[in-house]
Amino acid sequence: MVPDRIRPILARVLAGSKALSRAVERGPHLMSGSENTWNSTMMPTGRRGQELRDAERRSSARAVHRGEGMTCSDEWFQDYDDKFALKGDETGEAEARFIKRVLHLRKGRSVLDIPCGAGRIAFHLARAGCKVTGVDLTPSYVRKARSRFRRESLPGKFLCRDMREIDFHNEFHAAFNWQGSFGIFSDEENLEVLSRYATALRPGGRVLIDQPNREYILRHFRATRETGNVRSETVWNRKTERIITSFSETRGRKSRRWHLSMRFYTPAQFRDLFRAAGLEVEAMYGGLDARLYDRGSRRIHVVGRKA
Ligand SMILES: C[S@@+](CC[C@H](N)C(=O)[O-])C[C@H]1O[C@@H](n2cnc3c(N)ncnc32)[C@H](O)[C@@H]1O
Repeated sequence: MVPDRIRPILARVLAGSKALSRAVERGPHLMSGSENTWNSTMMPTGRRGQELRDAERRSSARAVHRGEGMTCSDEWFQDYDDKFALKGDETGEAEARFIKRVLHLRKGRSVLDIPCGAGRIAFHLARAGCKVTGVDLTPSYVRKARSRFRRESLPGKFLCRDMREIDFHNEFHAAFNWQGSFGIFSDEENLEVLSRYATALRPGGRVLIDQPNREYILRHFRATRETGNVRSETVWNRKTERIITSFSETRGRKSRRWHLSMRFYTPAQFRDLFRAAGLEVEAMYGGLDARLYDRGSRRIHVVGRKA
C-alpha cells in the first residue's frame, strides 16, 4: 500500500518519531501517579477529594498500561456513530472563518474538504464564494451535503471516497482535514494521506490539519467517561503513540460497542511528517482566534505550504 517513493522518507520519520516520543514520555504527563490525571474542577476538596483523586490516578495508570497491548479493528472508522461524527451547525461558521483565514482563501479559490462529513464547513466556504470539493467515506453524509447545497442553490462537488485513495493533481489552492479526522490510520497511511493532499495542491497551495493537542489530552487524561447512556474507556498506548477509546451504549436490553483509535503527533513529529509529504510547516495555531499553538492549547492546527 505504501508507494516506493515514500518508503525511505517514512523510515526516517518513524525513526525520528521514536526518539521524539521517548523524549515526550520522560515528561511529567505520563500516568505514573502525577496529578495531571484528574480534573480539579470536578473534585470535592478535603479527604473525600483526596480519596477520589487517588482512585482516579490508580485507574488512569492501569488504563495506560493496559493500552500497551490493546488494538482494535483496522477499519474501525467505518462503523462509528452519527452523533459522534456529525457535529452540529453551532460553530461551523466560526470554524470556516478560521480555515478561510489561515488558508488564505478568497472568492473564486478552490478548496478540498476531506473528510467533509455532511458539509457543515464546506457550506460556509461556498457561501463565501470558494469553489468547494468535499470527499467523505459515508454515503449518507455525502447525500446530506449534496442536498443542503442544492437547497441553498450553492455550487459544490461532493464525492464518496476513501481519503487514502484520492488522486487529484495540482488542482487546489488549499485542502484541509478538520475535526479529529487525522491520525485514524496506520503511521504509513497517515503519511500517505498527507502526501495525497500535497499532490492535490497547486504549487504554493496550503494544507491544514487539525488534531486535539496530544500534550493537553495527556495532561488531562480521563480513563473513563459517561455521557448519557454512552460509557467510554480510554487508554494511551505509549509504544504506538495512539489513544484508543472503547465506547459502549446501552438502550434497554440492547447494547453495542465501538472503538476509536488515533495516532497523536507532537509538533516536532508534525514538522517531520509534513516535510516527508513535501510540505513546509508555515504556522501552528492553538485556537480559532488564530493564537499560536502552545502546550496548553486544546487543539493543534498545522498549516503547511507546498513549494
Ligand atoms: C469527526 S467527522 C468530521 C467531519 C467534518 N470534517 C466536520 O468537521 O464535521 C469524521 C468523518 O470522517 C469520515 N471518514 C472516516 N473514515 C474515512 C475515510 N477512510 N475516508 C474518508 N472519510 C472518512 C466519516 O464518514 C466522518 O464524516
